Amino acid sequence: MRFPAMTGRLMLGAAAAIVAVPLAFAQAEVIAERKDGFKAMEQNMEQIQRILQTRQPVAGAVAPARAIAEHAPRIRTLFPPGSDRGDTRALPTIWSDRAGFERAADTFETQAQALLAAAEGGDARTLGSALDATGQACLACHRPYRQRR
Ligand code: HEC
Repeated sequence: MRFPAMTGRLMLGAAAAIVAVPLAFAQAEVIAERKDGFKAMEQNMEQIQRILQTRQPVAGAVAPARAIAEHAPRIRTLFPPGSDRGDTRALPTIWSDRAGFERAADTFETQAQALLAAAEGGDARTLGSALDATGQACLACHRPYRQRR
């Protein structure tokens, strides 16, 4: 009479697998999505830097700055609980210190708005300082919340 128990355990195992597989899949997807978002922001930052270094018209920085400012509020939504597992450098501190993480995201969001305002303002020096401050806001989140290589 060991079979029914075995079967029960097997069925429980199968049920857990059915739940676990889509969850892992959803997490892999959100991890890929947030990395793509960060990579795009990095490219937009580099584009603004190139515009300044090659003394192109500041107006060219509006589009990349707007892309950064529009992505900024989405960052917090791309770190759901459980997405610390998988191919990710997200540190567990994101979830254990959620308030701190969201503060870093808020600070970044405000700074990204300032970057866009500076690009729209058209002054290269102001844009240069705003770009530096934005880079600092990226680092202020990476230091406590992203694993070093
Ligand atoms: C609120 C926190 C936060 C802010 C703000 C932030 N990052 Fe990140 N960033 C992270 C975390 C956490 C990861 C690790 C994500 C992962 O591996 O799942 C990351 C990963 C990255 C990556 C690697 C993506 C990959 O392909 O693995 C790049 C590039 C990056 N960030 C650039 C930036 C730039 C540029 C800025 C500012 C313009 C920025 N980040 C702002 C938290 C932040």
